[in-house]
Amino acid sequence: MTTALITGSTAGIGAAFARRLAADGHDLVLVARDTKRLRDQATELHDRHGIEAEALTADLATDEGIEAVADRLGDRRNPVDLLINNAGFGNKGRYLDVSMADELKMIKVHIEAVLRLTSAATAAMRERGRGGVVNVASVAAFVPRGTYGASKAWVVQFTQGAARDLAGSGVRLMALCPGFVRTEFHQRAGMGTDNIPNWMWLDADKLVASALSDLARGRTLSIPDPRYKALMGLVKVTPRGLLGGVTSRTGRKYGPQ
Ligand SMILES: NC(=O)c1ccc[n+]([C@@H]2O[C@H](COP(=O)([O-])OP(=O)(O)OC[C@H]3O[C@@H](n4cnc5c(N)ncnc54)[C@H](OP(=O)(O)O)[C@@H]3O)[C@@H](O)[C@H]2O)c1
Repeated sequence: MTTALITGSTAGIGAAFARRLAADGHDLVLVARDTKRLRDQATELHDRHGIEAEALTADLATDEGIEAVADRLGDRRNPVDLLINNAGFGNKGRYLDVSMADELKMIKVHIEAVLRLTSAATAAMRERGRGGVVNVASVAAFVPRGTYGASKAWVVQFTQGAARDLAGSGVRLMALCPGFVRTEFHQRAGMGTDNIPNWMWLDADKLVASALSDLARGRTLSIPDPRYKALMGLVKVTPRGLLGGVTSRTGRKYGPQ
């Protein structure tokens, strides 16, 4: 029996990881801020799939929250075999419209927490000679898109660099870059989604299936879905100025929606 720890497990992409991993028979450690929602999720997954599910309340925008999760990942008596660093959020508005406090919170959750949790997990995994980490980034990593895109670009660079450094240790790391997925993300950020065409939306369960299959193949970067693979190919040959004009607008509308 293996154990997976998922941050941001109660909604969207994290909840899809939890459903799939529980159905595959993994025990789970579920992490988010809302304790009641976590406990309900743990009970539901235990009852449905017969797995053990622990609820760990932690705010990854705080040192205490990050430390609590890092301690759990470093517990040698109850090892974690797979870490999904998924918790994240968007900020409404463009650069200078977003408060400095919110910019720094994003860096704490998307960068500092990912660095500290990946390090706690992989140190223990390397001793055992096996384990995996999926760091959820975004296709926004490849386009000019404020602190959000910059933080996700860090996730991709960091993850692929760490994967190289740990090659041969039995520990796999992969950055997952989804396109638009219908979750609570846009509503929580107060972002409008009317200007995102239907064909750009991905299904969270299919995304997770594709990600886990890429991890099993030993990929260090996963861009699920042929539509986004093609788009990211196009991005590579598009001038940055033109790209910024399109990507800084899409899905980032501000004002009440
Ligand atoms: N949806 C998209 O279109 C999309 C596209 C590309 C990448 N992504 C990335 O995918 C990841 C998941 O996003 P999602 O769309 O599934 O979002 P979501 O539906 O809003 O879910 C976010 C999850 O993260 C938790 N969370 C948020 N802030 C947290 C914090 N400070 N500490 C601990 N947990 C926290 C939330 O629970 P609590 O509120 O209870 O803490 C919730 O479980 C994010 O990293 C996001 O950047 C999303």
